[in-house]
Amino acid sequence: MQVNKLSHSSGKEERFSSSGFIFAAIGSAVGLGNMWKFPYITGQYGGAAFFLLFVVCLVIVGLPVLLAELAIGRGGRGSASSSFVKLSGSKVWGGLGMISVIAPFIIMSFYAIVAGWTLHYAMLSFSGKLFSNTDFSAQFNGFMSGYTPIVWQGVVLILVGFVVMKGISGGIEKFNKILIPGMFILLVILMVRALTLPGASAGVSFFLNPDFSKLTPESTLVALGHAFFSLSLGMGTMITYGSYVEKRQSLGAGTLAIGGGDLLYALIAGLIIFPTTFSFGIDPGEGPGLVFVALPAAFSAMPFGAFFGGLFFILLAIAALTSTVSLLEVPVTYTMDRFGWSRTGSVWIIVIGCFILGVPAALSLGAAPGLAFGGTIMFDLMDFFASNVLLPLGGLIVTIFAGYFYKGVAEEAGLTAGWFRVWLFMLRFVAPILVVFVFLHSSGIIKF
Ligand code: PHE
Repeated sequence: MQVNKLSHSSGKEERFSSSGFIFAAIGSAVGLGNMWKFPYITGQYGGAAFFLLFVVCLVIVGLPVLLAELAIGRGGRGSASSSFVKLSGSKVWGGLGMISVIAPFIIMSFYAIVAGWTLHYAMLSFSGKLFSNTDFSAQFNGFMSGYTPIVWQGVVLILVGFVVMKGISGGIEKFNKILIPGMFILLVILMVRALTLPGASAGVSFFLNPDFSKLTPESTLVALGHAFFSLSLGMGTMITYGSYVEKRQSLGAGTLAIGGGDLLYALIAGLIIFPTTFSFGIDPGEGPGLVFVALPAAFSAMPFGAFFGGLFFILLAIAALTSTVSLLEVPVTYTMDRFGWSRTGSVWIIVIGCFILGVPAALSLGAAPGLAFGGTIMFDLMDFFASNVLLPLGGLIVTIFAGYFYKGVAEEAGLTAGWFRVWLFMLRFVAPILVVFVFLHSSGIIKF
């Protein structure tokens, strides 16, 4: 009898091509974190010095943990939970790994909301409607207080569901191979536009000329937490993607390519946002509303602003969609692996679950502010719990596991003896200590 490998219940015979894996992983890493959150936290924590700190954190902690996740995934050839069990023989690790299966599910439910805003804004901008009323803050609040965000959230989840349903090489890989280079072209166009605006150089120097007096312990922890978020660590995504990588591919080289890609996209995003905000006299530390409220004001005042604004929001949407795809793949791989569900069944059950969980979060931002516990609205609560509690815990589990319990880690990582020693030192000592600090700080247990 002919056995169709792709329909095997665990799905583990599916594989990325080598470039497909790099594009998919960069697609996961480059997301709203780079385009939406990174600019406003860089604005809030003082610009260039913060950026530099982020680069340092990315290199000394982010890259080692990224390599560890990829090695765990490829070594275990299972989900973010079962890979741990296969490599250690202990169910306890599988239980700990569950943190990295639950976190992406929660993150996805609110990430899809913001992704939906970007699609809505892209439409508004191209159609010119965005600029018919220049009170952008009122427009944004008006949009949020209605039910349209839920519609867009549903659109995002359905789109992403179709991609993941098509599988690793036929869906995720193809989608990223087209969109990641496409995104690069859009970024370069927008960067040239931003850098040629009058007064753009003040923005460039804010972003690239460090003033170290602005660094504080708090900004260091924020930078480190963001390095984790930006590389999609601690959430099972890189373990899951790693489980679909061919044995012959070098994970060390892959890690450098993914880290380099993430940094490059963040750098260009900064070279779009800061020159633009400075050129139009907007405060870059404005906070989460920066790209939805402040930037439309800038676009409305520039020639062909509707076009450039539309491109900008399309860019955000692509970044968000390729990341959401990786978030969805984590619980999908898990349910295929653990319960033998089909890929299609897993996708739609999880998508529906995410929508149900996400709707109250979306409504809590406007239409139903009463959806709150202890004064914190659902959206913030879910963000806080997943990004500040589950994510650092997931990261800690990875470093401890790869550093102390995973016997074959050297062989899987494939580093030279010297680099391996450096890597192990980071995993055993530096990363766990720093991650514990991030956790204590981001969960509010320690304050500065
Ligand atoms: N790395 C993504 C970003 O920068 C967010 C993300 C985190 C995506 C974890 C997947 C998993 O926006």
